Amino acid sequence: MAIKTVGVIGCGLMGSGIAQVAAQAGFATIVVEANQDLLDRGLGGIRRTLDGLVARAKIDERAKSEIAGRLRGATDLEALKDADLIIEAITENQALKNETFARLDAICGPSALLASNTSSCNVTAMAAATRRPGQVLGLHFFNPVPLMKLVEVVQTILTDERTVATAYDWVQAVGKVPVRTKDSTAFIVNRLLVPYLLDAIRIYEGGLASLEDIDQAMKLGCGYPMGPFTLLDLVGLDTTMFVAEVMFEEYREARYAPPPLLKRMVMAGHLGRKSGRGFYDYSKK
Ligand code: CAA
Ligand code: NAD
Repeated sequence: MAIKTVGVIGCGLMGSGIAQVAAQAGFATIVVEANQDLLDRGLGGIRRTLDGLVARAKIDERAKSEIAGRLRGATDLEALKDADLIIEAITENQALKNETFARLDAICGPSALLASNTSSCNVTAMAAATRRPGQVLGLHFFNPVPLMKLVEVVQTILTDERTVATAYDWVQAVGKVPVRTKDSTAFIVNRLLVPYLLDAIRIYEGGLASLEDIDQAMKLGCGYPMGPFTLLDLVGLDTTMFVAEVMFEEYREARYAPPPLLKRMVMAGHLGRKSGRGFYDYSKK
């Protein structure tokens, strides 16, 4: 099937990036947020990013207004009834995602594909919440979406091959590089990345070195673009904690358990860049 209209649910860190790249690639894009304030904030962020691209001469004013013209916001899932591909990017919570998929199934046309950007939740459970499990898959983008090339295309034991092929082509059409993976908690990248990030918190909690020195060590010693604490602040400490909880629940291995400091930082509202403070302070930037 041809994908013309894309729906994105959630306009936070990831949803706003996915909506931006979909609209930049020429797709009519409808973004749904939980309420008008959050929608205004999310769409406002995309507009500021596009302004920044104009200021740095990456796109011109005409391209900016064409991209903005392809983006539409809504606060009701009904707005997605004619979309061909819907990508869910709401909070990392299995029950909330299952409920959203069941509602989408009732609203969307029979040929629409339903995808989740989940980092670690069970895509098979989301598929089973619908009457079209063959048309449900994971499309896992990476943060920051406009800059990161990878998308994991996640096939459950229920996903049709045709669904995977259509989604794979669409990922390439938005300028990203797809890799295929099965629906197994945390897929490829997070299965390897999350234990590393949690270990960084543990060695810091244990007093081995300062945040800055651990970050510097991994940047200069391993050639990573960011140290683990800069990356944790970028990903969001709440999202990292939810992902670690899901991984621990699934695999029952101590290395996936969220460290005590991570839990306390989330309780304190120190969520990373998005809240102005995480391991580092962003309030003055
Ligand atoms: N849209 C389009 N283009 C943009 C943009 C946007 N929103 N923002 C910046 N750009 C452009 C810039 O104009 C710039 O273009 P030029 O090179 O032509 O000048 C280019 O993108 C690079 O911008 P920056 O100089 O800001 O980027 P950088 O070189 O400092 O790299 C980074 C930034 C890509 C984030 C890099 O630091 C990096 O790779 N960090 C690691 C990120 C990472 O590991 N992400 C994965 C997190 S885990 C995850 O996502 C999975 C999960 O489930 C939790
Ligand atoms: P976020 O907290 O920045 O954004 C989530 C957004 O979803 C919020 O704006 C919230 O208002 C909205 N939302 C919640 N419930 C909703 C509903 N019922 N209807 C509409 N909107 C709703 O989180 P994020 O970092 O963008 O993560 C979103 C998803 O993407 C999660 O599943 C996460 O695991 C995954 N993910 C995150 C990253 C990352 O680095 N942060 C990377 C890849 C994948």
